[in-house]
Amino acid sequence: MKKLILSLMFVFSFSTVFAAINKNLVENSDGTVSITNVDKDGSAIKFNKTVDNFQNVTVIDAKKVKNQKFIKASLEDFDKKEVMISFSCDVKVEDSTGAENEISWIIDEVSANFPVVSRQVLKSGEWTTMKGEAILVLGEKKSFYISAAGLNKENLKIYLKNFNLKIMGEGIGAPAPKVSWMDAPSLKDAYKDLFDYFGIAVSLKGELNTSDGQIGLERQASSITMGNEMKPDFLFAWKRPNTMCDFVAEDGNTYQVPDNLPIFSDVRMILLMARSLGIQMRGHVLVWHSQTPKWFFKENYSTDANAAYVDKATMTARQEWYIKSVLDYVRTWEEENNGGKRIITTWDVVNEAVADNAGGKKWLREDSDWFRIYKSEEFILNAFRYANKYAPADVQLAYNDYNCYAPNKREAIANLIDLIKATPGARIDVLGMQSHVKINYPRIRGDNSFEAAVHKYLSKGVDVQITELDIANGKQPYSPYKLKNVYKEYFKMFIENRKVDGKNGISGVTIWGISDRGTWLNNQAEYKGYQQYPLLWDNEFNCKPAFDGVLEAALEAKEQ
Ligand code: GLA
Repeated sequence: MKKLILSLMFVFSFSTVFAAINKNLVENSDGTVSITNVDKDGSAIKFNKTVDNFQNVTVIDAKKVKNQKFIKASLEDFDKKEVMISFSCDVKVEDSTGAENEISWIIDEVSANFPVVSRQVLKSGEWTTMKGEAILVLGEKKSFYISAAGLNKENLKIYLKNFNLKIMGEGIGAPAPKVSWMDAPSLKDAYKDLFDYFGIAVSLKGELNTSDGQIGLERQASSITMGNEMKPDFLFAWKRPNTMCDFVAEDGNTYQVPDNLPIFSDVRMILLMARSLGIQMRGHVLVWHSQTPKWFFKENYSTDANAAYVDKATMTARQEWYIKSVLDYVRTWEEENNGGKRIITTWDVVNEAVADNAGGKKWLREDSDWFRIYKSEEFILNAFRYANKYAPADVQLAYNDYNCYAPNKREAIANLIDLIKATPGARIDVLGMQSHVKINYPRIRGDNSFEAAVHKYLSKGVDVQITELDIANGKQPYSPYKLKNVYKEYFKMFIENRKVDGKNGISGVTIWGISDRGTWLNNQAEYKGYQQYPLLWDNEFNCKPAFDGVLEAALEAKEQ
């Protein structure tokens, strides 16, 4: 088999729309083609020859070509910015020896390490459509060409038709029409038959509070998660309890609990809103070391920083009371206001209790008031018992954490699932992978990848939900098309691992926010000085290429 390397090479600049090489075409007598200008209408290049009844073809007789540049396009118009190159071409190779030939279209760009746009082994005499995409910053050279390195040129004729090269990037061509999330195709609909829900994290005073927000959410989401408003800090409304009442706990003893807390007025608003939008919810979160008042863990609910922690039995009673109060409120509300139909279909029972570098005996997060009292996983197991006791049977119970793909943490979490399942009276249905990932980390597939962790959790007999997805550009410059591709790759992998035929699988995905404007990542010390663009919609709530990536993954899955 001989190899043909078709190298594409450019230099130019970045914008939102695309341009296509189209005009000022010179077809040379040996079949090679020079393109001296770049048009911006995006249509395919039409070659001028008619061969074997095919029109608009060019035929390259390899032995007549002195250098290796079969097609060469000048791209002087573009200069040194990031672009997405999207390419397709119908190719037929005729090898007089009948041999197969490996054809590669490669961008001749040193700094990007010669990205392969498309590579395929072609049988002699058959037309094949080759296509691919690459994102890169074009350096030094200002042309695009196809070269024939490595082929036996004596034997070869190469036919090309429907050659189409699009260049997308900021400042290229006419500005792309902006499409608001309110008018864009619906991700909720696109994912309807693939996942139980397509979710977005929201805030009560933000999107839920505006008519645009409500219209957008109704169109795009079938599930919402409150970014903050259902966490203990919020349900306790930053109030230290003033008066106490008795609570008879599971152990038969009576304990003092606050009688004017939790405060459910916001929860009621949220449930009403979700009901009117026809959207289900993930409840987030019951037991967490963060955003939970310190006094909850202290003797007499003291706000004194030096006050002693309560003993385990007292804390267990407080945990039972809190979980019961929240779950009872929601269930009663659903019974009285929604015909008993669930609004909150999954609860994050425990969030982030496993250590980052979990290993051996030290596998639990220790900078946690829960851990300080228990020094073991007991509070986690209790939480899943109480959630099972007080939640309706059709509400799914989840353990939720970040960096769940990191091998040590993955193994510790998998072990935790076993421990919960082995605890009498406890139930866990879902492993929530928060998925605050970076554009280049972790690996999506392969050894120790995100997908490897999904498989591990599924093997433990739970479903997986992607609960807080956002993709940070980190310290790299924001690349709309890289982000698009990475979103698409994630969603393709999620879809391949979705729940089918009652087997465990990924049952839903939630994006952690709507517009880049509101992302929490820009408040992270780690990214100080580096603007983050991790979501599907821009500062004006218009669709970014990332939105197209998520949509395309669903549409392509349905075509198969
Ligand atoms: C964690 C929590 C979320 C939220 C994010 C930051 O992932 O689970 O509730 O606080 O951090 O926005």
